[in-house]
Amino acid sequence: MRPTGKLHLGNYMGALHNWVNLQNDYECYFFVADLHALTTDYADPSNILPNTREVMLDYLAAGLDPAKSVLFVQSQVKQHFELPLYLGMITPVGWLERVPSYKDMQENLAEKDLSMYGFLGYPVLMASDILLYQPKYVPVGQDQQAHVELTREVARRFNNFYKLNGEEVLPEPDVLLTPSPKLPGTDGRKMSKSYGNTILLSDPEPEVRKKLKTMVTDPARVRRTDPGDPDKCPVGDLHKVFSSHDTLEKVYAGCRTAGIGCIECKGWAADALVQILNPIQERRAKYSDADVDDVLKDGAARAEARAEQTMAEVRAAMKL
Ligand code: ADP
Ligand code: NA
Repeated sequence: MRPTGKLHLGNYMGALHNWVNLQNDYECYFFVADLHALTTDYADPSNILPNTREVMLDYLAAGLDPAKSVLFVQSQVKQHFELPLYLGMITPVGWLERVPSYKDMQENLAEKDLSMYGFLGYPVLMASDILLYQPKYVPVGQDQQAHVELTREVARRFNNFYKLNGEEVLPEPDVLLTPSPKLPGTDGRKMSKSYGNTILLSDPEPEVRKKLKTMVTDPARVRRTDPGDPDKCPVGDLHKVFSSHDTLEKVYAGCRTAGIGCIECKGWAADALVQILNPIQERRAKYSDADVDDVLKDGAARAEARAEQTMAEVRAAMKL
C-alpha cells in the first residue's frame, strides 16, 4: 500500500484482509510503499512519513502479525534502490509507456504533472519490490494482475541476459488471485482516497454512522413509500459484503416492499461495519509508538537480510 493516508474499508476488503489470512500458510513480506508515494507526491513529501506510520498501524490493527510475517517500510531496505537501477537498464521504455496509469496520467496532465522519469519508471520499482524476495507468488486482486505480468516480463528479460552458473536468478512469480470485491464509497463510486468517499478502518463508530447517513441509495427510490432495489443501491452492496444472511433477507424484503426506509437500512449496514471495525480498532489502540518502532526495525533487518541474498546473486550474475 502507498502511504497516501489512513487505510479504508476498500483497501481492507480488496487486499489487507486477504493478507491476514495468507500469513498462516505462507512466508510473507508486506511493506509500506513510501517510495511509490514519492512518484506522485514529490512536490510536497511532508505527509509521507506520518502516513507511513499510520499505514503500518493499520496493517497491525488488521491482524498482520510481525511474528508470522515480515513487516517493513520500503525505503528502509536499501536494496529497493539498487535493483531498480539494474532492471531499468534492460526494461524497454515502450513497455512502461503502455502501462494504463501512465497513459491515464498523460490524459490528465492538468491535475498533477507526473511526466517524470520516476513516475514512468514506477513499474520497474514495483518489479524490483517483488523480485528482491524471489517469491513464488504475489497475492493480488484481478485489478493488479497486469502489474505482475510486467514483473514476469522484466524477470524473463533479466534471466535471458544474465545467469549465475547457468541458473536463473529471478524466478518469474505467479499471481495468487485473491478475492477483491469492488467496495462502493459513500457517493456510490468505487471507494477511493482520491474521491473523498471513504470509511476508514480507524473511523470511530459515530463517524461511521454519520458517513453511512450521507451515503447515496437507489436513485429510483425517492419517497419513503417508493419500493427500491438493493441490487441498484450502494448500501445494498455493503450489506452483501458485510451483513449476515438474515439481515440481507430483511433488506431485500423490506426495501422491495417499501416496508423499511433507507435510514433503517443504513443503520443495519452501519451495525455490520462497526462489528468488523471494533476488533481492528481495539488492536490498533494496543500499539504504542515504541511498539511500531520495534516492529519496523526488526522487519527492516529481516527484509534486508533476504533482499541482500538476492542482490548478491544479481550482482554476481551481472559480473559486477
Ligand atoms: P485508493 O484508490 O484509495 O488510493 P489504492 O488504489 O491505493 O487505493 O489501492 C490499494 C489496494 O486496495 C489495492 O490492492 C486495491 O485493489 C485495493 N482497493 C482500493 N480501493 C478498493 C475498493 N473500493 N474496493 C476493493 N478494493 C480496493
Ligand atoms: Na488509486
